[in-house]
Amino acid sequence: MSTVRFGVLVSGTGSNLQAILDAIAAGSLAASVSCVISNRPEVKALERARAANVPALTIPHRDFPTREAFDAALVRALEEAGVDWIVLAGFMRVLTPVFLNAFAGRIINIHPALLPAFPGVNAAKQAFDYGVKITGCTVHFVDGGVDTGKIIAQQAVPVEPKDDLAALEARIHRAEHQLFVQVLRDIAAGHVVPFVSGG
Ligand code: GRF
Repeated sequence: MSTVRFGVLVSGTGSNLQAILDAIAAGSLAASVSCVISNRPEVKALERARAANVPALTIPHRDFPTREAFDAALVRALEEAGVDWIVLAGFMRVLTPVFLNAFAGRIINIHPALLPAFPGVNAAKQAFDYGVKITGCTVHFVDGGVDTGKIIAQQAVPVEPKDDLAALEARIHRAEHQLFVQVLRDIAAGHVVPFVSGG
């Protein structure tokens, strides 16, 4: 069986990407990252990829007249890299059918809340401001909505009485790193298979 090749899309810091790269380097994730693409230049995630000798490129969404044209450029680059699955690790763009159809059922995202609660941006802050006592993170398949795809795995994270938002976000991030890597292991092992809508 050949090793699964992941393409990772990022927009920022890339701590989840780092957790994935570290797991591969440590031999605890039998897979490879073939390509990292950012829609924003000079983000930390690109540095992390290059430090791990993973091809890393910027495809600025502002260079394209439409979302579809941007997505088509992403698809071309990812197909050239020969990726099997797409991992959204802090990627801040909504994908169109151009992208979703090209990698149908093989796109996953991580979200810093227990979906379906608190979708969208600033999810940890939304949960903190609401006053929930338990929040967490979710790995899910990506569909045309915002954080609406089928859930693959979740990890609960407590909100401690003395937490400020930064402390809570740090705890969620630590949980994300473990959960994401575990889901990628499950994909690499064939325990999570491409999602067929209605199937
Ligand atoms: C994570 O909290 C993830 O859930 C959200 O964006 C953040 C990315 O963090 N989608 P990082 O860039 O991996 O550090």
